[in-house]
Amino acid sequence: MGVLGITHYSPAAFAELMRVMATGRVAQIQVPYNVLDRAVETEVLPAAAERGLGVIVMQPLGVGALARRSPPPDALRPLRASEFHTWAQALLKWLLSDRRVHCAIPATSSVEHMRENALAGDPPWLDEDARRWSSGWRRGDDRPT
Ligand SMILES: NC(=O)c1ccc[n+]([C@@H]2O[C@H](COP(=O)([O-])OP(=O)(O)OC[C@H]3O[C@@H](n4cnc5c(N)ncnc54)[C@H](OP(=O)(O)O)[C@@H]3O)[C@@H](O)[C@H]2O)c1
Repeated sequence: MGVLGITHYSPAAFAELMRVMATGRVAQIQVPYNVLDRAVETEVLPAAAERGLGVIVMQPLGVGALARRSPPPDALRPLRASEFHTWAQALLKWLLSDRRVHCAIPATSSVEHMRENALAGDPPWLDEDARRWSSGWRRGDDRPT
């Protein structure tokens, strides 16, 4: 069965994206979302959830900028129970723990990274408190705020 979707990378086009979503002609959207770029949280994700649309997240690692440097291990200690092992997995798990998100598509040229990233697709997920706490993540050398 085919699924018709719509995508745009720029918040400048989100109003138009929302207009198409409202027609009922698409079943899925693909939008940018990560701890640094949260523009979709305001209107797009709530509208997608309300309409039951599938959500694919592009640029989940901030086009690589977020994944490049990892915070010190003790900065992530409060989340260890959530069973991720690397910084990239933590960033992906943060996204996939949002119930409005169905799929994240990190790009990689590395088989190792592909394996590492795929493991973030398994539960357990972050609960709301952990997700709120970790939303302070910005760069690998920052601590959550
Ligand atoms: N529909 C649209 O308008 C649109 C626009 C932009 C992008 N996209 C799609 O979205 C997807 C992802 O976008 P993106 O490539 O821009 O951003 P991204 O997935 O956020 O970042 C990719 C970068 O992250 C690095 N990376 C991946 N896994 C890593 C890991 N485990 N540890 C450290 N670094 C890691 C990759 O480097 P390595 O190669 O070294 O792993 C690559 O430089 C692609 O499929 C793209 O086609 C769609």
